[in-house]
Amino acid sequence: MNKSLRLRLAGLLCLSVLAPFAAHAAVHAGEKLYQAHCAACHGVKLEGATGPSLIDQVWLHGAPTKANLITVISKGVADKGMPAWSPTLSAAQIAQLADFVAQPRTAASAAAPTAASAAPASAAAKTAPADKSAAILSGMKLPKGFRIAVYADKVETARSMAVSDSGVVYVGSRKAGKVYALVDADKDGVAEKVVTIAEGLQNPIGVTLLNGALYVAEISRIIRFDNIDASYAAKPAYKVVKADLPKETWHGEKFIKAGPDGKIYVPVGAPCNTCNKEDQPHSKIWRMNADGSNFEEYARGIRNTVGFAWHPQTRDMWFTDNGPDMMGDNTPSCELNVAPKAGLHFGFPYCHGGVLPDPEFGKAQSCEQYVAPVAKLGPHVAPLGLAFYTGTQFPQQYRNNLFIAEHGSWNRENKIGYKVSLVTLYNSKVVSTTTFIDGFLRDGDEVVGRPVDIAVLADGSMLVSDDHGGRVYRITYTGK
Ligand code: HEC
Repeated sequence: MNKSLRLRLAGLLCLSVLAPFAAHAAVHAGEKLYQAHCAACHGVKLEGATGPSLIDQVWLHGAPTKANLITVISKGVADKGMPAWSPTLSAAQIAQLADFVAQPRTAASAAAPTAASAAPASAAAKTAPADKSAAILSGMKLPKGFRIAVYADKVETARSMAVSDSGVVYVGSRKAGKVYALVDADKDGVAEKVVTIAEGLQNPIGVTLLNGALYVAEISRIIRFDNIDASYAAKPAYKVVKADLPKETWHGEKFIKAGPDGKIYVPVGAPCNTCNKEDQPHSKIWRMNADGSNFEEYARGIRNTVGFAWHPQTRDMWFTDNGPDMMGDNTPSCELNVAPKAGLHFGFPYCHGGVLPDPEFGKAQSCEQYVAPVAKLGPHVAPLGLAFYTGTQFPQQYRNNLFIAEHGSWNRENKIGYKVSLVTLYNSKVVSTTTFIDGFLRDGDEVVGRPVDIAVLADGSMLVSDDHGGRVYRITYTGK
């Protein structure tokens, strides 16, 4: 849906429920402010993300009267991740936001923007789920000889994946608060069982395996399920490995991965769009021993990485980083970085995408002082998980090259990303970035999936998780 249509729909809504013109204008101003400052946590359509939905009629802080809303927006909710806005926004702006949030919205009117633009999708929703999957699959574009199929369905808000030696695929989630085990016992390439191994966790997006244990990263702690392959089916108990990570929810969801050195690596994102947290735990990658001891900084100057992987030959760490919003539709670029050793600085908040000084923090700095990305992945594409292709099923040209899941832009005028890209390397240096799977975005606007993470199975096929569709896809090479 384009912005003008969205505004027109919002306009219709305002006209019908709020007669006075002044209130109408305030709601529009409020919507703009909302998209700039609030949508990252509460969702572009107020549907909720890391912060609660503002359209579900469930209110944690009293009825949504203008006065109550002004209070919660101004003061925030300390230690629950809702920032106080009175230091940043004027009283008039906060009042406009309160008007926008307070305007009566039925579930139907809140959904109107998507329903209007996604008419084919809502028609599809009436047909059987199998037909819907078939329509999604038939619109996917891959290079010749590759095939995509659904590996597992009903994996609500599926995020990172980790594959155990016995072939169980562990998957973290976002809002669902669950960790799943996908089991393909009959080895036919489809997981016939989706087992929920834990629930009620706080955005447990990150999962990784080390020494037979499954590590799960929540917002502010890391937990561990020992001997997981033997215990996943029986709601296993966990130990808390690290409890005192920062509690902010803005960029607070944590990827996690065991490195080739037997240490566990985990990022702490910047709790903002741009801010200077050099002397805080934020905007860094940390690492620790398997038991949580010796927590130490590995890399800094990173806004929000949601994916890293180690090159199978050089064993260097490669990671994605998401560039800031509100600097234009085409700037800055999201990054692919390499951290071959500890102690490097990747530029945030001074320099974005390797070349663009931050208008506020970059004044007295030069981008040359920081490690530049090895590839610029494009503005707002939101690169998340990545994996080197270590299998042998795909043709030679894919081996030891890198696949990246691009979750897709959330507030760019024209959406981009929403695909799996292939980074081709020569001597471990980036040669090109091309599209490997396209089709998660239809007609430039209808989102049918958002890729999150990539994993390679023992048979050389590849999995892609999708938190929008709540699915995991499997890609095979047949040569036909
Ligand atoms: C960093 C993430 C984040 C951002 C940015 C953010 N919020 Fe929140 N917000 C939250 C969280 C988390 C809560 C829930 C707090 C709690 O559990 O009490 C919340 C709660 C609220 C509530 C109360 C909801 C209720 O159920 O009572 C309102 C209203 C609200 N936010 C409005 C806004 C507005 C307006 C903005 C932009 C100016 C904004 N928020 C920006 C995370 C965020």
